[in-house]
Amino acid sequence: MKTIDDLGDLRGKRVLVRSDFNVPLDGTTITDDGRIRAALPTLKKLTGAGARVVVTAHLGRPKGEPDAKYSLAPVAGRLGELLGVPVHLAKDVVGDSARETVASLADGEVALLENIRFDARETSKVDDERASLATDLASLADAFVSDGFGVVHRKQASVYDVARVLPAAVGELVLKEVDSLKRATEEPARPYAVVLGGSKVSDKLGVIANLLTKADRLLIGGGMVFTFLAAQGHQVGKSLLEADQIDTVKGYLDDAEKNGVEIVLPTDIVAADSFAADSPHEVVAADAIPADKIGLDIGPASAELFASKIVDARTVVWNGPMGVFEFDAFAGGTRAVAQALVDATAQGAFSIVGGGDSAAAVRTLGFDEAGFSHISTGGGASLEFLEGKDLPGISVLES
Ligand code: 3PG
Repeated sequence: MKTIDDLGDLRGKRVLVRSDFNVPLDGTTITDDGRIRAALPTLKKLTGAGARVVVTAHLGRPKGEPDAKYSLAPVAGRLGELLGVPVHLAKDVVGDSARETVASLADGEVALLENIRFDARETSKVDDERASLATDLASLADAFVSDGFGVVHRKQASVYDVARVLPAAVGELVLKEVDSLKRATEEPARPYAVVLGGSKVSDKLGVIANLLTKADRLLIGGGMVFTFLAAQGHQVGKSLLEADQIDTVKGYLDDAEKNGVEIVLPTDIVAADSFAADSPHEVVAADAIPADKIGLDIGPASAELFASKIVDARTVVWNGPMGVFEFDAFAGGTRAVAQALVDATAQGAFSIVGGGDSAAAVRTLGFDEAGFSHISTGGGASLEFLEGKDLPGISVLES
């Protein structure tokens, strides 16, 4: 893969950068700017080299046309604050405003194009449509830097197609992400523990199947655990359950036994009356969840059990919260897992926090990011990497 240094002297050159600025918003307030901060090394390197930087990114899933709700205006503001220079936001994706904004850039200045998904060609399944947007993007730049790790699993115009028509290089963030994830997947130091959470097991089928041939321990929490408990024949009350996945999960439990992979499930659950921050709740045994209760976190004994399976690991990957960490009463499991990763890291383990939700959890719960070896900015992308899938946004840079 070519790096930024391989692009040669960039002074006065227009460099298109694909970043992932898909940040959580409350109205127009960014509630977690981790992805914007993660983009800074590449942007600073380029501005420092005197390039005229043109950033393209998406926010949310607008329907292929402009929608003020998904404007990148809040991102432009925050990015400008973090860079310490104004970021010129174009009013469109590749139209008159984009062309004028880019033409008016001085060396070392930064423009941000409006949400690339305001153009339906970005996510089109028709190759020619994506290629036509890539041509429009390419007309705004002399080179391309791929730095939106969170979207490298998407075969989209600004991720994949544009890399085929401009001299392309990998950005600092993507480089760091790929190096870290490779370290965890190619010959990981053992014991290798993987902690999976989040709501749906159906989102993680591929990754679980792959990990059953690679990890030594698989710890399961979050909403998806109830499908595992059901597969073991337990009642899960009103908890999240994907009944159509029970047989698949039974197969995983059998495979784990055959492969000698230890599957660690919670022994107790924090069960609530309803899905609400202030709901009355109690700790119950994982095999005795009352019919009228909903499980919203792993219990304290499970948190201790999980921590004990993490602290002596040499490689730990964590994707997905253990419970509804946004509600304080149900944040205990997620907090305990985060702390165990920090402890393992302090003892020399290599730790990766992957996925938008777990990365946000780490920050929301007040952990110092430096306590982890790597916090990935990719949700789906890091899962697909762990699954061993081809990532179009990476392989296009390798070809
Ligand atoms: C993400 O938030 O995981 C990335 O930005 C990709 O977004 P998408 O799932 O809408 O393609």
